Amino acid sequence: MSNTSLDLAKIRADFPILQRKVNGQPLVYLDNAATSQTPLPVIEAISDYYKNTNANIHRGVHALSQEATEQFEEARKKIQTHFNAKHAHEIILTSGTTHAINLVANGFAAFLKAGDELIVSELEHHANIVPWQMLCERTGAQLNVIPMTEDGTLDMGVYHSLLNEHTKVVFVNHVSNALGIINPIDHIIEKAHAVGAAVLIDGAQAAPHIVPDVQALDVDFYTMSAHKICGPTGIGMLYGKAEWLGKLPPYQGGGEMIDQVTFKKTTYADLPHKFEAGTPNIAGGVGFGAAIDYMRRVGFDAIAAHEHELLQHATEKLNQIDGLRIYGDVAKKVAVISFNVDGIHPYDIGTILDKMGIAVRTGHHCCQPIMDHYQIPGTVRASFAFYNTHDEVERLVAGVEKAVRMLR
Ligand code: ALA
Repeated sequence: MSNTSLDLAKIRADFPILQRKVNGQPLVYLDNAATSQTPLPVIEAISDYYKNTNANIHRGVHALSQEATEQFEEARKKIQTHFNAKHAHEIILTSGTTHAINLVANGFAAFLKAGDELIVSELEHHANIVPWQMLCERTGAQLNVIPMTEDGTLDMGVYHSLLNEHTKVVFVNHVSNALGIINPIDHIIEKAHAVGAAVLIDGAQAAPHIVPDVQALDVDFYTMSAHKICGPTGIGMLYGKAEWLGKLPPYQGGGEMIDQVTFKKTTYADLPHKFEAGTPNIAGGVGFGAAIDYMRRVGFDAIAAHEHELLQHATEKLNQIDGLRIYGDVAKKVAVISFNVDGIHPYDIGTILDKMGIAVRTGHHCCQPIMDHYQIPGTVRASFAFYNTHDEVERLVAGVEKAVRMLR
C-alpha cells in the first residue's frame, strides 16, 4: 500500500495498456525511462484532433487551419507555463531531445573556432555527446569531460578545474538516464556563467519527476521529450533564452521558417518559427499539451513522494539479494535502479523477467562511457513511474530472485 496521496486505482484506470497481459502474466511496466505509457486523456486529445480539426497550421484562412493553429500554439503556451519560460517564442517544438540538442550544437558552429573548449559529463546519453563531437570535428574545438566518481556522482572538483576563459558551452543532463542520479545543475550553470560559457541541460529524464523553472535556473537551453511525460513520441521541446535563439542560425531550411524568399536572398521568420521548418508534428503538439495537463492534474509533488517510496522499497529489497550491486545508489536520485548480479549477464535477467511479464531495459542505455567506467557490458534498469505500485516492486524483486536461482 502506498502512504502517499495518489489514487492509484483511478490513475491506473487511465492507462489501458497497464491492464494487458504479457507472456500470460499481468504486465509490470518498469521501462518508463525509455518511454512512459499514455493515459486516455492524451490518447483522446490526439484522436479528437484527427477526428475534428486536422489541418495544416499557420497557413490557411479556413476555419480548420485556424483551429489547428490555435491548438498547437495553446500547447506551446502550456509548455511555456510548465517550465516557466519568460516567452512562448522561447519554446521550440522539436521531434524530441535528440533533435533539440542537434539544433543547438549545429548552431554553435557559427561561433566556435579552434582552441575553444566545450565541457560534457561522463554521465551523458549518447545524444548529448555525439552532436558535440561532430561540432568539434567541424570547428576544431576541444571536448573536455567531467569524470564521474565511483558512486556515479560527478567530480565537481575536476569540473571547476576545467572551466576557463576558452570554455564556450557546458552540456550535462539534469538526471542521468542510466543511473537516475540528479546532477547539481544550479551549481554547474552558475560556475559556467562565471566564465562566460553557455549551458545546455538535457532534461529528458528529469521532466517526468521534477518541474524545472528555467528562469530560476538561469539556464540557456533546456531540452526534453513529451513521451517521457505520458505524451506521444516524435515531439519534444527546446527551451532557449530569446537572446541565444536570436543569435543561433536556423537548423533546417524550408517552409514556415522564412520571412521572404528570393533567389538573391532569403530572410528568416521570427522566433519560434525560425527553428520550425516544414509541417510540424501538430497532433503530437496537441498530445504534448494534454500530457502536461494530465501530469499537472496528478500533481508533481504527489508524483515525487510516491516514486520516492517505490524507490526506497525496491532499493531495500534488491540490496538483500546476494551478489546484487546497484550502480548510482546515492541520496539524490529519481526512481531509476540500475543493477547487476555477480556472474550473470544483464540480458539474461531481462529475458527471464520478460517471461514473467516484467518489462525492464537491459544493456548500455545509450551510455557506453558509464559502462566503460564500471567495466561492465550493461545493467538491468528498472525505471518507475507514478502509476507503478508496491505490489509491482514485490513482483520485480521476486522475479530477480527467481532469475538468479535459475542462472546460478
Ligand atoms: N533514453 C532512453 C532510455 O534511457 C531511450 O532508455
